[in-house]
Amino acid sequence: MSDTFLKDSVTVSSLNHESDSLQIEALYKKAHEDRLEFWAEQAEAIDWFVPWENILSWNIPHAKWFENGKLNASYNCLDRHLGTPTALKKALIWEGERGEERCMSYQELYEEVSRFSDVLKKLGVKKGDRIAIYLPMIPEAVVAMLSSCRIGAIHTVIFGGFSAEALQNRIEDAGAKILITADGTYRKGKHICLKQTADQAIENTNSIEKVVVIKRTHESVHWNSSKDLWYHELMKEAKFASAEMMDAEDDLFILYTSGTTGKPKGIVHTTGGYMVSVTTTTRLVFDIQEDDIYWCTADVGWITGHSYVVYGPLSNGMSVFLYEGAADYPQKDRFWKMIEKYKITVLYTAPTAIRMFMKWGETWPHGADLSSLRILGSVGEPINPEAWMWYFENIGSNRCPVVDTWWQTETGSIMIAPIKGHGPLKPGSATRALPGIDAVIVDEQGQRASRGYLTISSPWPSMLRGIYKDPVRYQNTYWKDGRYFTGDGAMCDEDGYFWISGRIDDVINVSGHRLGTMEIESALVDYNLVAEAAVIGVFHPIKGQAITAFVSLKETATGSDELEDLLKKHVAMRIGSFAKPEKILFICDLPKTRSGKIMRRLLRDIAEGRVIGDQTTLADPTVVQEIKGLYQED
Ligand code: PRX
Repeated sequence: MSDTFLKDSVTVSSLNHESDSLQIEALYKKAHEDRLEFWAEQAEAIDWFVPWENILSWNIPHAKWFENGKLNASYNCLDRHLGTPTALKKALIWEGERGEERCMSYQELYEEVSRFSDVLKKLGVKKGDRIAIYLPMIPEAVVAMLSSCRIGAIHTVIFGGFSAEALQNRIEDAGAKILITADGTYRKGKHICLKQTADQAIENTNSIEKVVVIKRTHESVHWNSSKDLWYHELMKEAKFASAEMMDAEDDLFILYTSGTTGKPKGIVHTTGGYMVSVTTTTRLVFDIQEDDIYWCTADVGWITGHSYVVYGPLSNGMSVFLYEGAADYPQKDRFWKMIEKYKITVLYTAPTAIRMFMKWGETWPHGADLSSLRILGSVGEPINPEAWMWYFENIGSNRCPVVDTWWQTETGSIMIAPIKGHGPLKPGSATRALPGIDAVIVDEQGQRASRGYLTISSPWPSMLRGIYKDPVRYQNTYWKDGRYFTGDGAMCDEDGYFWISGRIDDVINVSGHRLGTMEIESALVDYNLVAEAAVIGVFHPIKGQAITAFVSLKETATGSDELEDLLKKHVAMRIGSFAKPEKILFICDLPKTRSGKIMRRLLRDIAEGRVIGDQTTLADPTVVQEIKGLYQED
């Protein structure tokens, strides 16, 4: 863990009004004194068809928040704004990579969603059915999600960068009935045919009955007339469908994320608690203003896209900007030019992007007018103090607070972050747990400590309700002594500020993408020449971590640049290009303990040039020399 927490704190003078600070402290105090009452009060900010009877029933690790309350997430994002000035406000402002523009008011988005909900119903989708969404960042991705929950279906969004095989696995695990995709997308000027990947994914799956295809690119696609249906054709006949009454604990979505085994976990979120948490945290962290133009750069395929592109901002009636494309197309100032053009007020992005912008140099942002910006957010991985300061100085002109937000797919909403960017802020620290969130650091023995494992000690509304179809894994992965274990290491300083160091399990974070080392290892050993593989994350100045794989081959094979290339392609095919190892090293044997466990720690020590820790349990000490030798050659 970096000790840079000693760095000076930053106070953003324009924000730190005493009256605001007092209000925020009062909020913390109230939540501390009566956590449940705090959440009950927050729940008043969303619309319920039937009020809940009980705030929480907690039978570790099973929570029921806002018991017997009835609501609909789509209704909360759309219908409740109708008849208010928000109805005419822009809900979505979209720009494509080639500069195409689209805009939808809340009224228009409501109409589109109501009609697509009717389409889904006519396709036979019922409450509780699963819908897979494999789309680029286009308004229809939001429409698909909101239509799904409008009729009580459960969506599972799969990031467009996942391969056919990864898509297939997720569709199968969820048992999805409908797949919603597009003919393609553009990235760095190139056409990417999503439909082709979708076709491959469903070739051998039984559950998908129909594929709804959005015409995005006008490129021709292969058409399977028994399954494929054009979105625009279906919409011609559509009527308005009203929002179903859902129970607070009805499933809203399943989102797959990587864990410590080879198989991704289907994280389940339910309706009531999730909507309360995302609505509250969007309001508190981003200090919503009526005329905000808000841009969260995450893809809807990740949790940040769910909570802070779709559900949180729309339930708060914000104008959300969406961009489909690369940050350096046609030039490295694309983000800054769009901020200038649309007068974006809140920017929420990832440290890996910030470090990339740093590398490109400040001339690019300095060439645009960024004076509309008010708050800068960061999410997805630890932000190093240098990147924090660069963001603060060059993008926010020392004026906009940087809100570093710590949370996870499982937590559903932001857990640790400054409210309204109120200071003092410390570059590199996500500051304090939000009101109503009981974050505690514990040591190996489970005792409170200032450095150790980051845990959450009390339930919170948007907590995951389980792993889809795997209750045992849910209990075993996350819960110990009544606490939720996050998988992150952290430190707490004398002001109660959290400093998150990152994962302490076999999960790595590459450019903000969460990947399981076992997942990549499984993909590698599945290649016919590979005997064994060990994958580690090593420090990378831009990506945060980069993937290095150590591979031992079967006797008949020898390592070569060609084989390295083939293996990288193989991983891309099994998972997606973003999971490709940066480096593959061929070794005779992997370092293992005498009981046969791979010593990844030792590999990390060598790869990052550290003194190698305890080697006494190593079965064959000569392996260390071999690996060190490989690094010297490199
Ligand atoms: O290690 C933490 C890191 O990202 C993990 C969660 O990844 P995922 O479920 O994909 O969700 C990412 C978006 C919420 C965490 O266990 N992480 C996320 N935000 C931060 C972070 N690490 C440090 N600081 C953060 N602000």
